[in-house]
Amino acid sequence: MKRIYNNINLANRNSFGVVEMASTLVEFEGAEELKEYFERYNPERWYVLGAGNNTLFTRSYEGVLFTPISRNRTILKDDGVNVDIRVEAAHDWDELVAWSVSEGLWGIENLSAIPSSVGAAPVQNIGAYGAEAKDAITVVEYFDTRSLEVKRLSREECHFAYRESIFKQELKGVAIILAVEFSLSRTPKPNLGYGDVIKEVEARGGATLVNIREAICAIRASKLPDPKVLGNAGSFFKNPIVEKEVAEELLKSYPDMPHYPIAGDDSKVKLAAGWLIDKSGLKGYRDAAVGVHDRQALVLVNHGGATGGDVMRLAGYVCQRVKECFGVEISPEVNIL
Ligand code: EPU
Repeated sequence: MKRIYNNINLANRNSFGVVEMASTLVEFEGAEELKEYFERYNPERWYVLGAGNNTLFTRSYEGVLFTPISRNRTILKDDGVNVDIRVEAAHDWDELVAWSVSEGLWGIENLSAIPSSVGAAPVQNIGAYGAEAKDAITVVEYFDTRSLEVKRLSREECHFAYRESIFKQELKGVAIILAVEFSLSRTPKPNLGYGDVIKEVEARGGATLVNIREAICAIRASKLPDPKVLGNAGSFFKNPIVEKEVAEELLKSYPDMPHYPIAGDDSKVKLAAGWLIDKSGLKGYRDAAVGVHDRQALVLVNHGGATGGDVMRLAGYVCQRVKECFGVEISPEVNIL
C-alpha cells in the first residue's frame, strides 16, 4: 500500500541524523503505484530515498522522495551449484548477506555489514574488501519515469565501475530501482587478498563463509562508526583516481602511500583518500558538531545536532587541506541534496 507523507521530518530517515524536512515522501510497493503517481502528479523534482545511508540533506527537500517498502526475496533458480535470486529494493543489504552465508552461498560475504538497502547497492556499486556488488549482480529491474514502464538491465548494461553505474549517470533522475537479481554459488570462492582479511580469517580457523563474514564484521566494527550511535554515511569521499605519474611523484616523498592498480587501465592509479586526509593531520579533527572520524579519516561524523551545512563546510575544509598537502582533488561519494 502506498503511503504519502507531507512536510515530513527526515531525521530518522538519514544515517547522518541531520534534521531536514521534505515536502512529500511517498512509500511505494511496486511499479503500479509509481505509474499511478507519475500519471497523476508528474512530479518535476524527485529523488529515491532508500535507507538513507548515502545521502546528505543540506536543506529542506522541495520535491517528492520515493521510498520503496517491498522487501521480498525469491529463489529463481537452483541447479545445485548456482543459485539465482531476486530481491526487492527495500530488503536490508546485510540481512541478504547474512542469509547467503547461512545458506552456504558464496559471492557477497565480503560485503558484510555495509549499511544499505538492496535497491541502493547497484547505484554506487557498493564495495569493500576486494569485492563489489557488481560481481554478483546479474539484473537490475527499475521503473522508468519517462516511459512509465518497468525495464531490466543486465550487469553489462549497468556500466558498473568503482562507485559508479548508469544509475549515477544516464539514468540519474530517470530510474527508480525495484529489484535486483544476483547469482550466488555453492562453490567456495574465498577472496581474502585485501588488507587484514586473511589474518582475521585464519585467526578464526580458515576460509569458511561464516569465518569470512565474522572477520569482515570485526574489521569494520573496529574502524567504522555505527550510524545508530554516531551519525555518518560511511566513506564520505571516493578514493581519488590519479594519473600514474602523479602517484609516482608522490611516492618519491611518501614511499608508504597506499596505492592500487585500476583493472584495465595502466595509466591511472587509485589512492586512499583516508590516508591522504589522515596525513593532512585531520584524523579526529572536530569542528563543533561535526568531525573527521578518529579511526577512519574517510568518514565524517555528526557528533550531535549538526546540520547538513555543517557537514558540507567540514567536507570543503578537508578537500582544501588535502589539495594543499598533496595537490590531489578528492570528491564526495555521498549524494548531496
Ligand atoms: N588509511 C589511513 N588512515 C585512515 C584511513 C585509511 O592511513 O584514517 C589507510 C589504511 O591504513 C590503508 C588505506 O588507507 O592502507 C585504505 O584504508 P581502508 O582499507 O580502511 O579502506 P579505504 O580505501 O579507506 C574503502 C572503501 C570502504 C571499504 C574499505 C575496505 C571507498 C570510498 N571506501 O575505504 O567503503 O569499507 O575500502 O574495502 O572506496 C564505504 O563506502 O562507505 C566504505 C566504508
